[in-house]
Amino acid sequence: MALLIRNGEIVTVGSRVQADIYVENETITRIGKNLDAPPNAERIDATGKLVFPGFIDPHVHIYLPFMATFAKDTHETGSIAALIGGTTTYIEMCCPSRNDDALGGYELWKSKADGKSACDYAFHMSVTKFVKETESQLRQIVADGTASFKIFLAYKNFFGVDDGEMYQTLELAKRLGVIVTAHCENAELVARLQQKLLAEGKTGPEWHEPSRPESVEAEGTGRFATFLENTGATGYVVHLSCEEALRTAVDAKSRGVKIHVESVLPHLLLDKSFAEKPGVEGMKHVMSPPLRAKHNQFALWNALALGSIDTVGTDHCPFDTEQKLLGKDSFVNIPNGIPGIEDRVNLLYTHGVKRGRLELDRFVDVASTRAAKLFGLFPRKGTISVGSDADLVVYDTNYRGVLSAKTQHTNNDYNGFEGMEIAGRPSVVTVRGKVQVRDGKFVGERGRGKMLKREPTLC
Ligand code: URP
Ligand code: ZN
Ligand code: ZN
Repeated sequence: MALLIRNGEIVTVGSRVQADIYVENETITRIGKNLDAPPNAERIDATGKLVFPGFIDPHVHIYLPFMATFAKDTHETGSIAALIGGTTTYIEMCCPSRNDDALGGYELWKSKADGKSACDYAFHMSVTKFVKETESQLRQIVADGTASFKIFLAYKNFFGVDDGEMYQTLELAKRLGVIVTAHCENAELVARLQQKLLAEGKTGPEWHEPSRPESVEAEGTGRFATFLENTGATGYVVHLSCEEALRTAVDAKSRGVKIHVESVLPHLLLDKSFAEKPGVEGMKHVMSPPLRAKHNQFALWNALALGSIDTVGTDHCPFDTEQKLLGKDSFVNIPNGIPGIEDRVNLLYTHGVKRGRLELDRFVDVASTRAAKLFGLFPRKGTISVGSDADLVVYDTNYRGVLSAKTQHTNNDYNGFEGMEIAGRPSVVTVRGKVQVRDGKFVGERGRGKMLKREPTLC
């Protein structure tokens, strides 16, 4: 069915215009004033509201076997939570461990999403070892439309690659024209510091941050940058958390290294005092890299406004209270991760735009357009233009609410941002022209989401 969204203020990178949007066959076909539409077209009055391109979360975990358990969401629950919060596309980390076959893992991850997600999705393919068959398997995966890789410099013996494997992955990525995303912490130092702290009887969640200090992340970021420089590959640092690592990335950028940077919501809004709360309250806020000292947030927000941080994701990774308690005797066993897929856009709007830290079009860029460009989805996604998919968020800036586990849709028994106020939320969310959300409720079609096939963009 056709759809007419009338009289909203359409916000894209570099443009704000009051106009109507007409959608046919999942695609935006006209943008203009006083557009006509057949009587049977669905009509949405967006007067007084902003209209954004559907938001893109470039870093989520939905299916994830990790730390002796599994992340809690399925694509059914995760995608509905995403949509209610205005995210119409997410890119999931496909993460087989070092003991798994990469291609088998890729098929497994795809099968978990196929026909289940209510929003569109894509994958970053993790390379967790580099063996004889890796090159041909990665070539097949890229040919299947998954044109970005992920490496972990952390998580020794599980996801982590050594320097030789990093080199081989980057060198292949350069030849294939794909971007490599990376979790940058020095695995060896983390393992040594964890053992040292435990030997001193330091077992609570407050010791998670000291086991992975800022210098350990800066080292990983710097090493990744050096490997990019020497292979000519293009990289993207995921969930950069602190000023020291940021400085390393900015230095590398300034000498011409092709390095991009993502920040995630927990590092922008939460600090290490959350993980220092006693018992399970602290465990709920354990993620890696850890929540940092508060002064880092100023550096991250500033870099976001100025463009040295490219995107804001979530690193959505929900483990419930019972799972977090796996680490009650030792912080090294606390499943790492904080959920956020549902709250990213509203929190970023509230703490970024409303508080004057981000211009409105910069907000659109970091939460949608830039990820679309970096990961081969633009202009199909990430903008509002004729020919783009009709993924649209009609945004109500007059809404006021408070985040709570009691009202969330993510499959978890806590919310890492519990009690935080939001000043705005989507009133209508469409995926390829179909209304999926109205005023905080999922009203659409489950399983509508498609896997997005992406071409290498760097050739
Ligand atoms: O703590 C985190 N970040 N959990 C998810 C896995 C990862 O490192 O992204
Ligand atoms: Zn990570
Ligand atoms: Zn992650």
